[in-house]
Amino acid sequence: MNNLTGNNIRNCSMQFFNLFDLLMHQAKEYGLTEAQVIDHFKKLNITKTQILDLKNRTKLPDIEKFKQGIMTITRMNQLEIYLSMGFVPSEYRDSYFEKIKEIASLLTKRESKTPNPIQPYFQTNLGKLYKIDCIEFLRTLPSNSVDLIFADPPFNLNMRYDPKVNDNLSVSKYLNWTYEWLDECVRVLKDGGRIFVYNIPKWNVYVASYLERYLTFWAWIAIDMKSNFPISGRLYPAHYALVSYIKGSRANTFNNQRMPLQICRHCGGEIKDYGGYKLKLNPKGINVSDVWVDIYPVRHTKTKNRKYNELSVKLMDRIISMSTNPGDVIVDPFGGSGTTFAVAQLLNRRWIGSELGDCEGIKSRILNPEQDECLLKKVYEEKNHLFLNESKLLRQKNGFWLPKDS
Ligand SMILES: C[S@@+](CC[C@H](N)C(=O)[O-])C[C@H]1O[C@@H](n2cnc3c(N)ncnc32)[C@H](O)[C@@H]1O
Repeated sequence: MNNLTGNNIRNCSMQFFNLFDLLMHQAKEYGLTEAQVIDHFKKLNITKTQILDLKNRTKLPDIEKFKQGIMTITRMNQLEIYLSMGFVPSEYRDSYFEKIKEIASLLTKRESKTPNPIQPYFQTNLGKLYKIDCIEFLRTLPSNSVDLIFADPPFNLNMRYDPKVNDNLSVSKYLNWTYEWLDECVRVLKDGGRIFVYNIPKWNVYVASYLERYLTFWAWIAIDMKSNFPISGRLYPAHYALVSYIKGSRANTFNNQRMPLQICRHCGGEIKDYGGYKLKLNPKGINVSDVWVDIYPVRHTKTKNRKYNELSVKLMDRIISMSTNPGDVIVDPFGGSGTTFAVAQLLNRRWIGSELGDCEGIKSRILNPEQDECLLKKVYEEKNHLFLNESKLLRQKNGFWLPKDS
């Protein structure tokens, strides 16, 4: 430890979201490995579990020798540590505000580079796909030019994507990266335009609180997770989060979407009790709520365009139909198998997107749209009906009510 000198953070435009990331970042800066850090604390009777617990903390531990150890390794005092994590402790807030001009005068802006011109990997009459990093791509788009952004980024769950994608980042790296592409999304969105971000709740909590600074909350949609596994000591994770914000105070477009009433697939009886209102239900179906239980993962090998995390045509149709009209511009920075682009193309919307990994699959999907046309046709057959034909037969057989004109 004796050779540690200086207290600057080099090569780092980071905010740290927990003490562990800050500790390890600083240790690395001063030539220490994670194992050496753990070893250092072991000598102070601080266990590995206590160190890993710093991943859940932004407050320095109460144990004095642990706290001192962190300050020694990071070469920072308490205040510097808290400022690195992006917050001003309450006892400093008055003087922080009094000195705000002085502080601002000390900070320098990162040089903004003019984006390099980019060439599409392929294009259609309505859209363009770029095989490029999403931030580089978004930087080329003009401000206030997009009606809808749909983003389904990697969830940082150590999944295997293209070798250029690291899906196992530290919390701080993942969130700093997320905020960087969100900044660009906010810039390119039109007034009255809407963004949807699809992720697990753990990350969308951060996404929502970041977007709160710039946009207006529109919805937090829970999408029922069909295949899930219990995690010991935790609640069974059963939904993906789809968070949506609007630029400005009002959305330019909201096309209400209707879906069939949910019924028991064995007897045909309704699952929710509509009491005295059931005969007043709109024969075109139930208004879609913010809990979506009718979205299924793309499972069948016959209809799959890639091995994993392909979203369904039904989900993308709902989002696109709800938020845009023909001719509107849709952006998806994380193309994947290209579901957003394929559905946008079939619904006559303009689209632009990026994908860092393989783009050949997206191209061939859009140039050969028969399968997506078929899936979309089925989605439209099921939309705007209170009951599907087979449900009507089942209900009739079991003596359940049906709308008059069915
Ligand atoms: C969860 S998948 C998107 C799936 C897509 N919604 C679909 O329905 O197929 C995320 C995609 O983002 C891509 N990706 C990851 N990091 C990227 C980046 N920095 N720039 C562009 N694409 C990226 C990955 O290669 C992956 O295909």
